[in-house]
Amino acid sequence: MEIIRTACEMQQACRGLKKNGILGLVPTMGALHDGHLSLMRRALEECDAVAASIFVNPTQFVAGEDYETYPRTFDEDRTKLEAAGIDLLFVPSAQEMYSLGTRTFVEVSEIGDRLDGASRPGHFRGVATVVAKLFNIVGPDRAYFGQKDAAQVAVLRAMIRDLNFPVQLVACPIVREKDGLAMSSRNRNLSTQDRGRALILHRALENACDLLEAGETQANILTDALLEVFATDEAIRLDYAAVVDPFTLLPVVDTTKGALIAIAAWVGPTRLIDNILTENLTVESLHLDRGSMEEMHA
Ligand code: PAJ
Repeated sequence: MEIIRTACEMQQACRGLKKNGILGLVPTMGALHDGHLSLMRRALEECDAVAASIFVNPTQFVAGEDYETYPRTFDEDRTKLEAAGIDLLFVPSAQEMYSLGTRTFVEVSEIGDRLDGASRPGHFRGVATVVAKLFNIVGPDRAYFGQKDAAQVAVLRAMIRDLNFPVQLVACPIVREKDGLAMSSRNRNLSTQDRGRALILHRALENACDLLEAGETQANILTDALLEVFATDEAIRLDYAAVVDPFTLLPVVDTTKGALIAIAAWVGPTRLIDNILTENLTVESLHLDRGSMEEMHA
């Protein structure tokens, strides 16, 4: 696995790799876990060559957030990516990515201001900007993202379409710990007590799942059920619990056409997110846009 630290060298190396066929990209911020590795494996299965990136992107952290304490475990990450069979690893410095002070940003209006975008103003502007830069540096045919960050998938899907990036977005299912907690680099920062408490996110979604299975389709009843679970632990601060359209991130009244049920909560100093899709949606169906999906269901 070749490790590259400058955009220029990465561009050249990727141009070379693309001659071999389909090039996949898996962008990450490192502190890799099995969720990240599932994206790597999927990309390796579906592409002829795969580039990964590790970059803790300062522009997607809002003032006062955990940029400084975000886990950084480069040596372990490199070993994992090498073992997985990744061809190229891009590890730029913040100076390399934003050397002259960036003047140009990518802002996905409306969608980028919903869910996490509402509670972390400017977050998705940072995400969209860095992913657009990575697309221009790597020139991938396919880019792999986790459904764990469902709002991020919606924002990036819109960006790809709006800016005509010749990239296919591939959304991959959420990988969980044995007890159901969605894997996240931030889980490393949980104290033992908070690690136990964090299970409330999964419990609330399981409860919503039971209601869906019993035939419930009313978004307000599902939301109330999520809130009830969170009311059982006062030490947890719920950020949002929402039943939304997975493409626009706008609230839906009922879930019959498919919905994303998403939550974000502060467990101690750590903000965690998790979500489920209603049964009539698959992560795969999120590769298309809403129009094509409706045609498919028609
Ligand atoms: P990061 O949080 O490192 O995540 C990198 C990718 O791994 C994202 O697409 C994320 O959705 C996916 N991922 C994380 N946990 C997962 C899990 N439990 N199951 C499946 N996939 C999971 O997301 C980012 O970095 C950044 O915003 C980035 C896109 C790299 C831009 O800076």
